[in-house]
Amino acid sequence: MTNKTALITGESSGIGKVFAQKLAQQQYNLVIIARTQEALENIKKDLELKHKINVKVIVKDLTLPNACQDIYQQVKQENITIDLLINNAGFGDYGAFCDRNLEKQLKMIQLNISALVELTYLFLQEMKVKKEGAIINVGSIAGYQPLPYLSVYAATKAFVLSFSEALWAENKKLGINIVALCPGPTESNFGKVAEFDAMINMGDSLASADDVVKDALIALKKQKANTVTGGLVNQIIVNLPRFLPREILLNVVENQFQKK
Ligand SMILES: NC(=O)c1ccc[n+]([C@@H]2O[C@H](COP(=O)([O-])OP(=O)(O)OC[C@H]3O[C@@H](n4cnc5c(N)ncnc54)[C@H](OP(=O)(O)O)[C@@H]3O)[C@@H](O)[C@H]2O)c1
Repeated sequence: MTNKTALITGESSGIGKVFAQKLAQQQYNLVIIARTQEALENIKKDLELKHKINVKVIVKDLTLPNACQDIYQQVKQENITIDLLINNAGFGDYGAFCDRNLEKQLKMIQLNISALVELTYLFLQEMKVKKEGAIINVGSIAGYQPLPYLSVYAATKAFVLSFSEALWAENKKLGINIVALCPGPTESNFGKVAEFDAMINMGDSLASADDVVKDALIALKKQKANTVTGGLVNQIIVNLPRFLPREILLNVVENQFQKK
């Protein structure tokens, strides 16, 4: 039997890196994407040696024009069929909206939303023809309510959740499963990139990327539309907004997220 192939964006660290490790253990061949060439090449060397799989590295900034088209063309030129697409690359930015850099916010929308939509569009076409395939879009529990001081980030993740669940419903009868993975705070470079000190200082109370990926792969197997990882606390966080008046919810969250 030939190996399946997974394409993972944002593979050079954090959750994406663990996805690659777990899928390599399951004998997936991989296409791995991020901007940091050295990290990707080291991962390729390690996984090919350990698991006897093929790993293709594509060094790409997904916020640049034509990045997704270029990835698609490179994959097609090598006759690679993507069985599992994992749109994982993403980042946040902590602080009051107007105090932060506008370009960073616009790049965030480009990466967290536009690149995810474009790669989904490109690779879903051939999954539909084959009537087979799967997509994991990495959202967040931040997508379940507005987050003051992470306003653009939470809005991008609300998009990911809504978009992915709609596609789950459109495609489930075709044998294609699309799951929105919604982790809570997880160990990775996220806090550093977002300059979110409170998260960097959470230490052991961060979930492990290993547990997040395990939950994601179980959700995929069960053909779930979404999975909120990390246990009861995260379940409460995502369900509370349905019961609280919006102003109360926003005041509580604002208080919790403001710089102490
Ligand atoms: N950690 C959390 O608490 C948490 C919670 C919920 C959801 N998430 C989501 O999980 C996903 C993965 O994040 P993470 O927590 O694992 O953080 P991370 O360690 O910072 O990983 C982010 C990945 O995205 C890549 N990336 C960033 N900008 C890119 C760009 N312009 N083009 C291509 N690749 C880019 C990074 O690689 P390069 O820098 O090499 O490009 C890196 O591989 C994100 O979508 C994030 O929003 C994280």
